[in-house]
Amino acid sequence: MHSLNIRIVYLIILGIFICVKAQFTLPGEPVKDALFLHGFVQSNNTLKDCVFRPANAKDLCPDSGIRFILYTNGRKEVVDQSQTDWLRQSIWDPLKENMFLVHGYAGGDDTLPINVLRDAYIQNGSYNVWMVDWGELGETPCYRAAVHNMRAVARCTGEFISSLRTVGLPTDRLTCVGHSLGAHVCGLISKYVLFRMHRIVALDPARPLITPQVKLNIGDAGAVHVLHTNAGHYGEGGRGGHVDFCINGGRIQPYCENGEIDAQLCSHIWAVCYMAESLVPHMRKRAEPCSRRCPSGPRPGLGRIGIPVFMGQDTPLTASGSFCVYDNYTPYCPKKAGDIGDVRCCLKAPEIE
Ligand SMILES: *[C@@H]1O[C@H](CO)[C@@H](O)[C@H](O)[C@H]1NC(C)=O
Ligand SMILES: *[C@@H]1O[C@H](CO)[C@@H](O)[C@H](O)[C@H]1NC(C)=O
Repeated sequence: MHSLNIRIVYLIILGIFICVKAQFTLPGEPVKDALFLHGFVQSNNTLKDCVFRPANAKDLCPDSGIRFILYTNGRKEVVDQSQTDWLRQSIWDPLKENMFLVHGYAGGDDTLPINVLRDAYIQNGSYNVWMVDWGELGETPCYRAAVHNMRAVARCTGEFISSLRTVGLPTDRLTCVGHSLGAHVCGLISKYVLFRMHRIVALDPARPLITPQVKLNIGDAGAVHVLHTNAGHYGEGGRGGHVDFCINGGRIQPYCENGEIDAQLCSHIWAVCYMAESLVPHMRKRAEPCSRRCPSGPRPGLGRIGIPVFMGQDTPLTASGSFCVYDNYTPYCPKKAGDIGDVRCCLKAPEIE
């Protein structure tokens, strides 16, 4: 009798669980899909299709494999680089700050995970969002070519920004946000421009095959802020910026460890969701000063004295050192229907209250 009761209770719970699951399945294209991009994407390319751009070729830019797309005030415009006075006639808003977003390997203007961040900036509304789309030069399975092509991308982006500057775009508050290989592209731009970039935000800068010559450097901008989510694997280990944020220790994200997915890639990709979250005033996270060795060291002891800073968009330019954040939940994932966030940042469907 007793065991029958337990079985009935169990069946009821199972039934509720199935109902909840069926009702709250995720809409298509969660960031989780991006986990399958690296090497598993249904691309017809083979290694012999990989393109390698020589970065110092004469007349390299504009390059047909690199596009710039501007999003501002709810509108979108693809840059026409053949028009010298393009900016003046474009949708560009001179009153807004300029954010350049650079995707990583197997990316593009409208690919995961960078489009989550793009959409977060668009939704925030305070920025001119410039997407650097170098997808054609960083397709799968051509990781080695993508690393090689970063210089060409940086050079053409640098020349493009310089041309915008000539016609009136202020560069004194320009920020470059790059994910993975894109973070190093942001750094490399400094080699091809005559002005100093204001700020670089590096979202888990890529580690594999990155040599010191192309690696993001603390001297590449007035402020270099790095968010570490997969340090030592897909992401770079060790400190890299004026400010280094070590998220959950910086190496592996707790919500990625459920065994169903590649925990390393998941951790690497979710860096983008932390940045998106920082654009929402009530969601942005405060980070506490912590061990100098972070993200290489163990979890530091609590109670270190210092002033916490906001992680992401609102990190003060004067901040420096390592800062730690601990949180077990997927960032920017709405907890229930109607909440702010992006369901593409959820690993599971939002819970019901
Ligand atoms: C790969 O090739 C097949 C046959 O030519 C085509 O139908 C398919 O769309 C291609 N896939 C991609 C991702 O280009
Ligand atoms: C946009 O982001 C900035 C920087 O975090 C923030 O100050 C501002 O309040 C945000 N605007 C909206 C509408 O969320």
